[in-house]
Amino acid sequence: MTDKDQPIKPWGGRFSEPTDAFVERFTASIEFDQRMYHHDINGSLAHAKMLAAVGVLTDDEYQQIQTGLEAIRSEVEAGEFQWSVSLEDVHMNIEARLTDKIGITGKKLHTGRSRNDQVATDIRLYLRDEIDSIAKELTRLQQGLVSLASNEADTIMPGFTHLQTAQPVTFGHHLLAWNEMLQRDYARLQDCRKRVNQSPLGAAALAGTTYPIDRAMTAKLLGFEAPTENSLDSVSDRDFAIEFTAFASLLMTHLSRFSEELVLWTSAQFNFIKLPDRFCTGSSIMPQKKNPDVPELVRGKVGRVNGHLISLLTLMKSQPLAYNKDNQEDKEPLFDTIDTVKDCLKAYADMVPAITANKESMLEAARRGFSTATDLADYLVRKGVPFRDAHEIVGKSVAYGVEQNKDLSEMSLQELQQFSDTIGDDVFEVLTLEGSVAARDHIGGTAPKQVKAAAQRASDKLGER
Ligand code: ARG
Repeated sequence: MTDKDQPIKPWGGRFSEPTDAFVERFTASIEFDQRMYHHDINGSLAHAKMLAAVGVLTDDEYQQIQTGLEAIRSEVEAGEFQWSVSLEDVHMNIEARLTDKIGITGKKLHTGRSRNDQVATDIRLYLRDEIDSIAKELTRLQQGLVSLASNEADTIMPGFTHLQTAQPVTFGHHLLAWNEMLQRDYARLQDCRKRVNQSPLGAAALAGTTYPIDRAMTAKLLGFEAPTENSLDSVSDRDFAIEFTAFASLLMTHLSRFSEELVLWTSAQFNFIKLPDRFCTGSSIMPQKKNPDVPELVRGKVGRVNGHLISLLTLMKSQPLAYNKDNQEDKEPLFDTIDTVKDCLKAYADMVPAITANKESMLEAARRGFSTATDLADYLVRKGVPFRDAHEIVGKSVAYGVEQNKDLSEMSLQELQQFSDTIGDDVFEVLTLEGSVAARDHIGGTAPKQVKAAAQRASDKLGER
C-alpha cells in the first residue's frame, strides 16, 4: 500500500490539518474490508442505476459510472488496484478511483447515500454469498456422511454412555447422529439467511435522504427480499452477523464432537477406523506416528469461532443508535468465522467419504464390556420378572463375568442359571450382538433395517435442497 501522494479525503472540507499518521492507520479498515470490493461495486451499480431511473443522474452519467466501476473491478481482480490507507476503507478507495477515472461524474455516485448504509449493504451482500457457498459445502459433507452411513448400516460397534460401553449400535447409526446435528445447522443457516437478505440501502447516514430514491428498486436489483423498515436500525443493526456467527459456533461445536471421536477411534487403543494418509501427518521424532491432525485442528478451531461470537455480542452491547465507528470492528471476527467454517467444512467433506471402518475391531469391542446386558434384562422381563429384579440378576451375572473374564454370550446355560432359573435355552438369541441391534426396530432405533431407511430419508431430504 503506497500513500506517497496523500489523496484528498472525501470528507476533508471542514478540517484544518491533516489526520495524524497513527490515527489514519488506526481508524482505517482497508486492510480487511477490501475483500468486499465486488459487493461494494455491485451496491454502487444498483444505487447509480436507481438514481438514473428517478432522474437524479442522467443516463449518460449512469453509463460513465457503470463503465468506470466495471473497469475498477477488473483492476482489483488483476491485482493492479492501489489500495490507500489514507482513503480509509474499501468504499472511499473505490469512489476516489472512480473520480480519477471518469472525473466529475464520479463525485455524483454518493448522492443520496452514506457509507453507513453502504457498508451495511456490502456486508449483507458479501455474507449472503458466503452463506450460499457454506450451504453447498455443508450439503457435500452430509452427502458423504449419509452414504457412508448407508454402507455401514449393519456394521456393529459398541455404543457408549459416559464413554463406557453401553449397548451395541451400528456404525451407520452413529454416523447418522452426526448428520442430524448438521441437518439442524443447515436449517439454522437458511433461517439466518432470511434476515441477512434485507436491504438497508437508502437509509443513508441514519435518517434517510431528501432525494426521491426508490428503495424497492435497489433491493430488487441486489436480489434482496425487501428494503429494511427503519433507517436508524438499518445502519446500526449487526444482528445478522451475530446470528451467522452463532450458527457457526454451533456447527463448529458439532464438528469438534465429531473430531473428538475420530481422534479417539484412530488411536491404537480403539482402532475403530482408518483415516487415509493424505489427511494425516507424521512426527519428526517418532517414526511410527500417524497423527489425525485434520480432526484435531478442526476441534481446536471451535475456540476462535466461539471467541468471535463473544466479540460480536460484546461489540453491540450498549451501543446507542445509530451508526457508531465501533461497527467497523464487526468485520474481522465475521470474516475469520467465514474463512474458518469454510476450511473446516472442506476438510471434512473431503475426508469423511474416505473413512474406513475396522469392522473386526469394532465387533470385538462390542463383544467386550457386556454390551448386551440390557438385552438380558429385557429378556427376563418378557418372562415375567419385574425390571428391577431383572436388573439385579443381570448385575450379578456381569460381576461373575468380570471375575471369570467371560462375556454373557460366552457363558454356558448352567452358568447363567445360577442367577435365575427363568433363563432358558432361547437366551442366546438375545445375547448376540446381531440380535441386540436388530431388536431396536423402530424409527430412530439402531436396527440395520431402520438405519438403512433413515439413511434413505436423509438422502432424500438432501436431494430436495
Ligand atoms: N469503514 C466503515 C465501517 O466499516 C465504513 C462506514 C464508515 N462510516 C462513517 N460514518 N465513518 O464501518
